[in-house]
Amino acid sequence: MSTKTTNLDNLVRHDNEYHMNTYGRLPVTFVKGKGSSLWDDTGREYLDLLCGIGVTNIGHCHPVVVEAVKSQVELLMHVSNLYYTKPQLELAKKLTEISFGDKCFFANSGAEANEGAIKLARRYAKLNGKEEAYEIITALNSFHGRTMKTLAATGQPDKQKPFEPMPPGFKHVPLNDIDALKKEINEKTCAVMLEPIQGEGGVYPCDEDYLKEVRALCDERNILLIFDEVQTGIGRTGTMFAYEGFGVTPDVMTLAKGTGSGLPIGVLVASEKASVFSPGEHGSTFGGGPVICAAALATIKVIEAEGLLENCRNVGAYFMQKLEDLKASTNAIKEVRGRGLMLAAELVQDNAKDIVLALLKEGIVANNIGGNILRFLPPLCITETEIDAATEVLARLLV
Ligand SMILES: Cc1ncc(COP(=O)(O)O)c(C=O)c1O
Repeated sequence: MSTKTTNLDNLVRHDNEYHMNTYGRLPVTFVKGKGSSLWDDTGREYLDLLCGIGVTNIGHCHPVVVEAVKSQVELLMHVSNLYYTKPQLELAKKLTEISFGDKCFFANSGAEANEGAIKLARRYAKLNGKEEAYEIITALNSFHGRTMKTLAATGQPDKQKPFEPMPPGFKHVPLNDIDALKKEINEKTCAVMLEPIQGEGGVYPCDEDYLKEVRALCDERNILLIFDEVQTGIGRTGTMFAYEGFGVTPDVMTLAKGTGSGLPIGVLVASEKASVFSPGEHGSTFGGGPVICAAALATIKVIEAEGLLENCRNVGAYFMQKLEDLKASTNAIKEVRGRGLMLAAELVQDNAKDIVLALLKEGIVANNIGGNILRFLPPLCITETEIDAATEVLARLLV
């Protein structure tokens, strides 16, 4: 038995003994990351095409972020949100400068940011004279988080079933079907919440025309349009926020994954009209702490300074073409979807998990959604050469 197997066996045993089994982990222990590379505990290098599910967007352990975190850790790690801190104010200012938003609220995760958006939408309705409006319409197949409210918002019955009854206040409609949405909107509706590209559901983009019609409908009814950009935000689709690429501006946007380069953060970004929380109505002990805000600020500055949005668009288009070529040259791919570096290949067979495991054996980290979807969320700094190497392996595995 190799040392590697022994180490892994021990870890799996430990994990089974001490950790709730909710993830279905893959057989590898990572100990180091740099740029688009990860290393396991045997020293083997891997090409990371997943970024911890769209989190380490600027590559692992970017020196600018590492330095920002180190400096802040030495200076001040926590003080209550009862006081002002410079990194928080600077991050809020930066996020509003680079987006439609006028105000931010900081939380600790995507689900928590979405919880904030749900509360904000209900508050907005009440302040606009709609006491009875509390329902939020989301899309079937959407994913908005694992807390009870965000699970209720998630349009995937199989994820809800084990925890029923769901909290009330959510309706689900088919994506890209404006008539279905029109039918469900009524005097009880306070918001529509959509992912511009459904991530966990399998990388299904909204149609631009659909989003424009949804925007018009929300304006007409004076209800809020919330974009869940937890996965699409922070450069992932080739613009800093996906809404820019779709040409439709929401009233509220939530961010998380890529924002802190791996440290936990959730952000609620809202237009002036939607920024309706008053003191005492919302809060978080850790949200917007100085260390995470320093990390997020550095992350955004790196994206700007290193031209990562442009690289994301260029290499994303290159990767997409490579996947389309594979679709044409094998009979294994049914459809290629996505934008920027948020891509999926829907397979003909239900063997996506096997392909992911085979890729891992070849030193490539990717992900499957369900049985037949391969998902790729590489770092925004990935090169065409790295994509060539990955797609060569994929071509071998798909025949
Ligand atoms: C679109 C979207 N919203 C919300 C979430 C939940 O984020 P978190 O796991 O940080 O709570 C996710 C996570 O995958 C997501 O993709």
